[in-house]
Amino acid sequence: MPTPRELVREGLQQLQESGTNSVALDSEAADILRSWEGTAPAAPVDDTRQNEQLQTTEQKIEYLRRRAGNWKAARSLGTLRDRMVFSVGNVHARLVFVGEAPGYDEERLQEPFVGPAGKKLNEILRAMGLSREQVYITNICKFRPSMGDRQGTSNRPPSPQEIAACLPIVQAELRAIHPVCVVCLGATAARGLLGKEGGVGSLRGQWWEHAGIPTRVTYHPSYLLRNQALSARRAVWEDMLAVMEILSLPISEKQRRYFLIDPH
Ligand code: URA
Repeated sequence: MPTPRELVREGLQQLQESGTNSVALDSEAADILRSWEGTAPAAPVDDTRQNEQLQTTEQKIEYLRRRAGNWKAARSLGTLRDRMVFSVGNVHARLVFVGEAPGYDEERLQEPFVGPAGKKLNEILRAMGLSREQVYITNICKFRPSMGDRQGTSNRPPSPQEIAACLPIVQAELRAIHPVCVVCLGATAARGLLGKEGGVGSLRGQWWEHAGIPTRVTYHPSYLLRNQALSARRAVWEDMLAVMEILSLPISEKQRRYFLIDPH
């Protein structure tokens, strides 16, 4: 009975004899071949660019979903929980929202922004005249950060290492979708995508760029749950008005005045 190693060698030899002189390997297959050759597996690599050779955006995103579930760079940290929560929405969206990391509800339902912060995000979308189905919603970190014994329903923001580990996936999603603009929800997403250390107060209200894509930073929806002040809601809304303008979405006079202290 031939061993798997012998079978692969034989298969490769047959391919070579029939004129094939290269084969594409994903990182998992490459690691297995290296281990057979007695070479230690390489450190986790960003092989998401292989994805770019695939054809449709749907295929690219599906590939990334599978890769993310098995993303060694994140898993090897040992500080993130096991269940991967991928993105949701329209892969042809012109607008992408990038949040922080899944929380209790998101992990349970395996969908980003389905808890209280998600309801707030849905409200923002409705005010813009959009639905969840028209946009693409993702997180800078695809796994719920672990809090060990203290976890329960508590959540914590991802660490810089956890963000860096997941970043190649998010970058590849944005390359695949290539939206008209991106909104970073909160400072954690901005830190990952833009490499900016400031708080939202100093980053919002202007356009930045991630890989050539206009990118806006605004307060995380959970901030609006904690801070009901009209000024906080208006700040987010002004960022969304700028997004609507860049997307050439219709804006009524009434919409322009939302959350103004004196709307007249
Ligand atoms: N907060 C986030 O940043 N992302 C989610 O998916 C849920 C809450």
